[in-house]
Amino acid sequence: MGVTFITGASSGMGRSLAKHLALQGEAIAAVARRKPLLDTLVEEIAREKGRAVALECDVTEQACVFATVTEAERRLGSIDRLVACAGGGESTFVETFTAAQISRVFALNVGGTANCIEALLPGMLQRGTGHLVAVSSIAAYGGLPGAAAYSAAKAAVSNMMESLRIDLRPRGIAVTLICPGFVRTRPSAKKKRKPFQLEVEKATRLMCRAIMARKRYYAFPAPLVLAAAVGRVVPASLYDWLLAGQGPRLKPVT
Ligand SMILES: NC(=O)c1ccc[n+]([C@@H]2O[C@H](COP(=O)([O-])OP(=O)(O)OC[C@H]3O[C@@H](n4cnc5c(N)ncnc54)[C@H](OP(=O)(O)O)[C@@H]3O)[C@@H](O)[C@H]2O)c1
Repeated sequence: MGVTFITGASSGMGRSLAKHLALQGEAIAAVARRKPLLDTLVEEIAREKGRAVALECDVTEQACVFATVTEAERRLGSIDRLVACAGGGESTFVETFTAAQISRVFALNVGGTANCIEALLPGMLQRGTGHLVAVSSIAAYGGLPGAAAYSAAKAAVSNMMESLRIDLRPRGIAVTLICPGFVRTRPSAKKKRKPFQLEVEKATRLMCRAIMARKRYYAFPAPLVLAAAVGRVVPASLYDWLLAGQGPRLKPVT
């Protein structure tokens, strides 16, 4: 099969997705900052007779991404697929809002994905084949309370991938945009379950299926997608009323 360059492979959905893709026969270039976690992932994949290499990289550092792509191609051959899963957010509070926080979240989610695309796209264009996959979020559908940075950054990721999807199709390169709802990536008995939250294993099984089918767009779970889509067409006053007070609380300084 092919070679997949997957970021955010040290934990959560990226790690689980890397294992699913390896089981489909993909050779995996597993990328993240925490190398020891990548090393254990590579061992786990090898035990299942799969092939993977661990590559330490901060996706916000463009030079590091370019060097990592070169190293991955030296060890595994030309890369057929990018799965840009590295990402995440920070809660935003009106009392502590800074432009620097917004930039930081954009640098990881948008900049990190764009750095990987810039490094991989010329080779794909030259070969006339390839697959770009990005993990955005249902949070991209609209602004959520306490998520000014994350909702904005994921909306940017979604729109960037949709633009590229249209532009790259005639060039033989597929684009898949994935928008998960809430996924439980860190087991925590204490934390309250979020609406329609999925376990990481179930979520990544669905994501793997969408990737292998080269779907253009995959958002899940359906009830949350529907709720988010309805949120786009109701009056803004109703949207605000429904979501008021639903955001995270700023912890008082003690
Ligand atoms: N969990 C959810 O409910 C949910 C819902 C919708 C979308 N998502 C999206 O799904 C993706 C995975 O989320 P998750 O919940 O699985 O999060 P997670 O467990 O926190 O994993 C995030 C991954 O991103 C990597 N990462 C973070 N900063 C990085 C950097 N600068 N350079 C390279 N790698 C970096 C982390 O690895 P290192 O720390 O080792 O670098 C880690 O492997 C994210 O894009 C997230 O926004 C999550």
